[in-house]
Amino acid sequence: RLLIIDFGSQVTQLIARRLRELNVYCEIHPYQNVTDAFLAEFSPKAVIFSGGPASVIDEGSPRPPASVFDLGVPILGICYGQQVMMQMLGGKVERGHGTAEFGRAYVTPAEARIDLLNGWFLDGREQVWMSHGDHVSAIAPGFEVYGTSPNAPYAITADLSRNFFAVQFHPEVHHTPNGATLYENFIKAAGFSGDWTMGAYREEAIRKIREQVGDKKVICALSGGVDSSVAAVLIHEAIGDQLTCVYVDHGLMRLNESEQVVGMFREHYNLPLIHADESELFLGKLEGVSDPETKRKIIGGLFIDVFQKYANGIDGAEFLAQGTLYPDVIESVSFSGGPSVTIKSHHNVGGLPEKMGLKLVEPLRELFKDEVRALGHELGLPASFIGRHPFPGPGLAIRCPGEITREKLEILRKADAVFIDQIRKHGLYDDIWQAFVAILPVKTVGVMGDGRTYDFACALRAVTSVDGMTADYYPFTHDFLGETATRIINEVKGINRCTYDITSKPPGTIEWE
Ligand code: XMP
Repeated sequence: RLLIIDFGSQVTQLIARRLRELNVYCEIHPYQNVTDAFLAEFSPKAVIFSGGPASVIDEGSPRPPASVFDLGVPILGICYGQQVMMQMLGGKVERGHGTAEFGRAYVTPAEARIDLLNGWFLDGREQVWMSHGDHVSAIAPGFEVYGTSPNAPYAITADLSRNFFAVQFHPEVHHTPNGATLYENFIKAAGFSGDWTMGAYREEAIRKIREQVGDKKVICALSGGVDSSVAAVLIHEAIGDQLTCVYVDHGLMRLNESEQVVGMFREHYNLPLIHADESELFLGKLEGVSDPETKRKIIGGLFIDVFQKYANGIDGAEFLAQGTLYPDVIESVSFSGGPSVTIKSHHNVGGLPEKMGLKLVEPLRELFKDEVRALGHELGLPASFIGRHPFPGPGLAIRCPGEITREKLEILRKADAVFIDQIRKHGLYDDIWQAFVAILPVKTVGVMGDGRTYDFACALRAVTSVDGMTADYYPFTHDFLGETATRIINEVKGINRCTYDITSKPPGTIEWE
């Protein structure tokens, strides 16, 4: 296994991700925990020093133990990791003065080539992502330069006799397009066979959950979304019936959704699951409310109350499970002099852990969405379930602009089901990030048969996106749109007009509220 020593870079997790993509098992440990004893026990096959916000020039700045250089294993230092390596091995690091570099830079090769750079410089130079204030001004004895950039004469250095490599840029980020190749070459040099899989991640995650939870009880708000579902199934596999899930049913789910979710987890997975059917409560409190923010606040507040009520009924629960993903963690990274991050509480249960005195179990904290899906697959969750489009916590409430009524929800559910059925039938579901119907707060006049109708209008929404932050409308064919509109108007009583929303995000948002 490979050890990543974390000096607090915002992108340390990306190193782990690059390595996982190469099927190499690695663990990230904060530098404070990496002692001589730790190294001896961990016995890494290779070590990577992450970047970090500190300056090696400052007294007391983060260091690995000097013994790491005596392990006889390959080491790769990145950014701050490079500087720490140079400083400790006899080189020199100086402060900026016009040599700070942030963002895109181009590295050109030195005359001599090394295996670490196989596949690099095919077009003469490589784009890399820099983010440093200090710079190395003299490399340590034994090191040679293999790549330079205008502001980083020592952009790529190595001591081949010891298999030590040090780069000033971040090969793990997207903006270093050929960075993965560099990692691939590094792990080859370290002798990894690349046979580690999501199956192994599952085993490791289970071991960690058992270690953290012991014989205590865990509660989990299961929404039926991919993240909370994968987290719940994984935790259940680790600790069995020490886990209880609560499915808060706010009456704002799609057609048959609650039955399907509850049924699947109870029957298929044997999960101890409480179906908290509180739709009367939610819909009652939402009566007459049309302001979007008020709706969201009412739903969020009630969700917490309801979850707490059911959780209080579970004796001795000490942990709250959450499907927090790595992007949720990076968004809220805050540095307080070291690699410590504050957690962004999940929007649904934010504040709950403190209020209820619960500790968090977050087994997906290191994963990206597509890795969660891979893990779900590994856990045997059905493919159709893993590939589901995202669905917002406040549910259909925010797809029903204006006042929410049971009648409107009923109509919306049916229209939505027809739209999704159309998308599936045409094989488009997986090309689309999210698709849904919004029922509009207007009635319009139509004619059906020989009679006049006066029914609701609806809007279809389907977008492509990578992360939900930006989005574009999906370019359905006119035939598809025509056929879908006809089906909805014919099959769903209460709707007599259909529009297609072609707003991108920005300036629009994906949901209507
Ligand atoms: P917007 O509408 O902001 O949505 O473009 C971006 C993505 O976030 C989802 N969304 C939510 N998800 N709770 C959630 O869990 C919410 O309150 C919420 N609001 C929006 C939305 O469905 C889309 O995928």
